[in-house]
Amino acid sequence: MIPPKQVQEILDATRIEEVIEEFVTLKRRGVNLIGLCPFHGERTPSFNVNPARNIFKCFGCGKAGDAITFLKEHENLTYPEALRWLARKYHIEVQEIERTPEQLAEIQLADSLYIVNEFALQHFQQQLFDTDEGKSVALAYFRKRGLREDTIRAFGLGYAPDERDLLLRKARSTGHSPELLKKTGLISQDDSRDFFRARVMFAIHNMSGKVAAFAGRTMSAEKTIPKYINSPETEIYVKNKILYGAYQAKKAIRQLDECLLVEGYMDVISLHQAGIENVVASSGTSLTDGQLQLIRRNTQNLKILYDGDPAGIKAALRGLDLALEQDLNVRICLLPDGHDPDSYVQEFGGEQFKKYTTENAKDFIFFKTDLLLGETKGDPIKRAGLVKDIVSSIARIPDPIKRSVYLKECSALLEVSEEVLHAEANKLIGQTIRKKEEKAARQPGAASDHSMPPPPVWSDDFTQATDPGAFFPPTEAGELPPEWGEASAPRPVERKAAAEYQERDIIRLLIQFGGQVLPHEQTTVGEYVLADIEESLGDFDNPLYSRVAAECHALLMEGKSFDQHYFIQHESADVANLAIDVLAEPWEFSPNWEAMWNYPLQNQPMPERNFILDMKQALDRFKLKKVQKMCALNLTRVQNASKEGDHDAMIRYMKIQQKLNETRNEIAQRVGTVVFGK
Ligand code: GTP
Ligand code: MN
Repeated sequence: MIPPKQVQEILDATRIEEVIEEFVTLKRRGVNLIGLCPFHGERTPSFNVNPARNIFKCFGCGKAGDAITFLKEHENLTYPEALRWLARKYHIEVQEIERTPEQLAEIQLADSLYIVNEFALQHFQQQLFDTDEGKSVALAYFRKRGLREDTIRAFGLGYAPDERDLLLRKARSTGHSPELLKKTGLISQDDSRDFFRARVMFAIHNMSGKVAAFAGRTMSAEKTIPKYINSPETEIYVKNKILYGAYQAKKAIRQLDECLLVEGYMDVISLHQAGIENVVASSGTSLTDGQLQLIRRNTQNLKILYDGDPAGIKAALRGLDLALEQDLNVRICLLPDGHDPDSYVQEFGGEQFKKYTTENAKDFIFFKTDLLLGETKGDPIKRAGLVKDIVSSIARIPDPIKRSVYLKECSALLEVSEEVLHAEANKLIGQTIRKKEEKAARQPGAASDHSMPPPPVWSDDFTQATDPGAFFPPTEAGELPPEWGEASAPRPVERKAAAEYQERDIIRLLIQFGGQVLPHEQTTVGEYVLADIEESLGDFDNPLYSRVAAECHALLMEGKSFDQHYFIQHESADVANLAIDVLAEPWEFSPNWEAMWNYPLQNQPMPERNFILDMKQALDRFKLKKVQKMCALNLTRVQNASKEGDHDAMIRYMKIQQKLNETRNEIAQRVGTVVFGK
């Protein structure tokens, strides 16, 4: 392991343009360098390198990141490999630190399991290609199923003959320990028999292409024999984190920005052979969270191919709510009766397969709605259940805009008013939030929860009264005594843009300067910012910003620091993209900022040059927004109390309002804002 201090040294020495120039010809344009993107084919350059911020971004395909990201993607390196690459380039001698004996033992065990699997793979391949029996039985079987030799090799297919202990004997004679073979499940627990016998073999690779496990398929049609048997779970084969074919598919998934999901090994292999390479299999089980995350790291678009009967499909759909929670765009495609992806592509070819799946894929929510609607004709009770079912799926989508669109569309399909659907969705979201809060309260020291529940989405009727981004209270304020009135409210669009901007600005600070130590103080920008807004941490309106803030907070609580590399390398693609975006954004103010806030823009230094002032102002703007939100909320309380004639309550709320206004004006003054009424 490279010690953290040296990691920093390497990152500090790295100049992104020097790294990228080893692979791409760059020309200077203004402060940036530009060239032809190495990640997608293009004739006019849209690949930008920004030396000042040490990042690159392609405006054609959207790929972006720092030097490490570049090496990972372009050279297929792991994070430590990329660091070592950079260390070599910049002549930094890396002194890897010692691991604990436990860590070493774990790594050594994993390494030796991989070695044993590699040995077994070679054995199975040799049996397939180099023996008469292998050729006449197994190779003939694969050929009959339409596989070419290059495909058979690319997927590590092999053959285990019907012999009691062929593999075991070979292991013994070549010095491989039976203990390790037992651990990987290749031989029986009593050291006497091979586990895979009389089967064609499928190697199961992990993401970096190492053999993690095997599956063996019988060639017999005998129903009493299980069709497939698999290696057991081991340290290197955690079933719910591996997708069959992911290693071979990774590149295509990223390039095409879509992942196809099928059920079987043979489906993956046949499609790949036909030129459809962005395909993985769940291996017959329902998708797990770990598998979905694997997909999500490479693309947001998932297309699932089903070939089963309606009952089976209905059961499968239930598992897909998990995919919605990961903010995946899920589409479903049913194959024509009697076909699975393998048989379809073998019969009609890759082009026809692409055409068919493009034309017949349906959005998951609508697919589910249609499927269930068909079953509930004329049965009002079933129909009510169906509405709840659909809404509970929609409620899991973290993106409020997407959620709104679905609710609108489904309102038409289900013939239920949008308001009712919104109300039902908000109820469910509220329940989820409460459950998460209760859970968090039960484990106070628990690490941050990365899957923050989605915030409720308000239907139009509520926007006025409760829009948390509102700068100003609703205009019915006229009903109140004049001193409660406010200057004319900006139009909703402006309100929204400006409100988002405050939060984004805080997140930018955390990402850009989070690790910087403030001069003359013992704290970092991250610590200062988060301490200052700690009580507002739960109030971010944008769920992604909220997640980043919560994660920063959790890291600090654990005594860890973070800097922009941390975010650019983030395992969640959303966060990594956000980091790139805020770092790549030219420093600019939100639309109408100057007009709305009368903010002294001219004297504003660029943030790189003065991050302390930048930080203090961003904090003030953020707090101002939060206080304004409280003002607006409280004002509606005043209004309601006034409407209901509850004078005590009204006085109480007016007192609060006065305090809030004072605080707000105080901050506003610091920020230099003069737009408020008294
Ligand atoms: P073919 O029948 O050869 O086309 O294989 P397939 O990969 O298309 O299999 P199928 O569609 O029948 O099943 C889908 C997946 O479910 C398989 O790829 C396996 O991962 C899994 N599977 C099927 N049958 C069994 C079984 O008997 N045992 C286990 N453990 N898994 C199975
Ligand atoms: Mn099949």
